Amino acid sequence: MTFSIHFQKTGKKTADTTVVGIFEGQKLSKSAKQLNKETSGLIEAGIDGNAKFTGKSGQTLNLGGYKDQYKRVIVLGLGKKEDLNNITIENLGGKLFKALQSLDVKNVDIHVEGIEDIAETSTPEIASHLAYGFKLKSYTFEKYQAAKKKAEKASLKSVTIVTDAHTASKKYHEILDAISEGVFLARDLVNEPPNMLHPESYAELIKKELKPLGVEVEVLDEKKMQKLGFGALLAVGQGSIRESKTVIMRWNGNKKISKKGKNPIAFVGKGVTFDTGGISLKPGAGMDQMKMDMGGSAAVVGLMKALAGRKAKASVIGIVGLVENMPSDRAYRPGDIITSHSGKTIEVLNTDAEGRLVLADAMTYVQETYKPEVIIDLATLTGAMMVSLGYEYCGSFVNDDALWDQMKDASDNTGEKLWRMPLDKAFREQVKSDVADIKNLATYGQYGGACTAAAFIENFVKDGVKWAHMDIAGTAWWKAEGDVTPKGGTGFPVRALNDLVKNHYEKK
Ligand code: BES
Ligand code: ZN
Ligand code: ZN
Repeated sequence: MTFSIHFQKTGKKTADTTVVGIFEGQKLSKSAKQLNKETSGLIEAGIDGNAKFTGKSGQTLNLGGYKDQYKRVIVLGLGKKEDLNNITIENLGGKLFKALQSLDVKNVDIHVEGIEDIAETSTPEIASHLAYGFKLKSYTFEKYQAAKKKAEKASLKSVTIVTDAHTASKKYHEILDAISEGVFLARDLVNEPPNMLHPESYAELIKKELKPLGVEVEVLDEKKMQKLGFGALLAVGQGSIRESKTVIMRWNGNKKISKKGKNPIAFVGKGVTFDTGGISLKPGAGMDQMKMDMGGSAAVVGLMKALAGRKAKASVIGIVGLVENMPSDRAYRPGDIITSHSGKTIEVLNTDAEGRLVLADAMTYVQETYKPEVIIDLATLTGAMMVSLGYEYCGSFVNDDALWDQMKDASDNTGEKLWRMPLDKAFREQVKSDVADIKNLATYGQYGGACTAAAFIENFVKDGVKWAHMDIAGTAWWKAEGDVTPKGGTGFPVRALNDLVKNHYEKK
């Protein structure tokens, strides 16, 4: 859905809907009081007559119109003042969007004046985060549905946030809007069907999306990867008719990224555009969901778009390994022993544990080429992760306490939930092989599967490098809607990673 967002001192003449906020206990915000006066008590009378409307966060009540002046007035429950922060305000924006969607709203004025009457949050922050939540919730993926596209023409056109602090709000909003564009790209990528998004088309799409924003994009094709000895990544892709690709993205927002010296931070993404399981074929039921197995790479690409879009003063490297895991006469097999780019050999015991093989080569390459101080990999890596933390939390395995603190901060700031998981010698023992250096299936199989997968990847982290592995199997794609997320691709954790970069890897 596309609509424009404005910040103005006064509402628009053309608005068909006007929204004002009410705190829990039916207390009117400053702008609600103002509107109440202008409408000869419409608001007070309306909420008095509706015992069910208490002002609880996200509640809405349609009070109808007032003369010719206001066509439709909606009151929005703001909840308790002390509970208001950027995240709860974003959620409010999301809920308001849902409420307006069920009415035929085309032009809406949202008055935020007086909501800021609390310590930490300022009016511009409230105004912009409300708009941010509103926009995040408005995401749709309807490009393959002609009828819905037409229906969209009749829907929401313009949103005006009415506030005295409109100039500052607009500035805040420009940054948040760039982040939401990154989130939307990550969602789009996850939602694309696997016949449309495969390694070849994906690499092209990354160039098309990011180059115009000033991101340097380099693509390694199979020939180049063979030369480099990407034996693990290439093994996964060898059953597919599509050529595997590795894509490197560089955003030089601070010191230019160079292959000569050290660099601050790199993000690595698993980009399995479809995971059939390969020769260790997955069961048929629900296999369609495995189009989301490139969610880690989508988060990296979305993050790069967000950083470039808001012109982040940070130098950030992104790298994604793009492959399709297919069974065929040339597919890799259980029993194969392959040599990774690091030189370590891997016994393949299950071709469905492919993500760790893709990550292994991309991780080694990025470390030897760019010497990042910090490396964060993202992958829809294990079903075991979903068993552990469901679709709510992302398990994060981190080898450095300070890095974890930064991640936890980013999680708290954005509401994208992370949970620290263990790295342990006992797990590393379980991925040692009798016939190769390591094996891709741990001794006790699914038990502790997310932890042993992390232990496998740990083999490809060079000494002294701070590293985090985020298993986003449960959080990248989900069947149900969240407060500001749609069904399907969630765009997780673009917002948290952007926050991490902003607070810890950016020139102030
Ligand atoms: N892509 C899957 C993991 C996955 C499962 C992601 C469900 C999202 C939702 C991964 O490649 C996989 O198949 N992992 C296996 C590993 C096992 C064979 C050790 C798994 O989790 O079953
Ligand atoms: Zn798999
Ligand atoms: Zn997979």
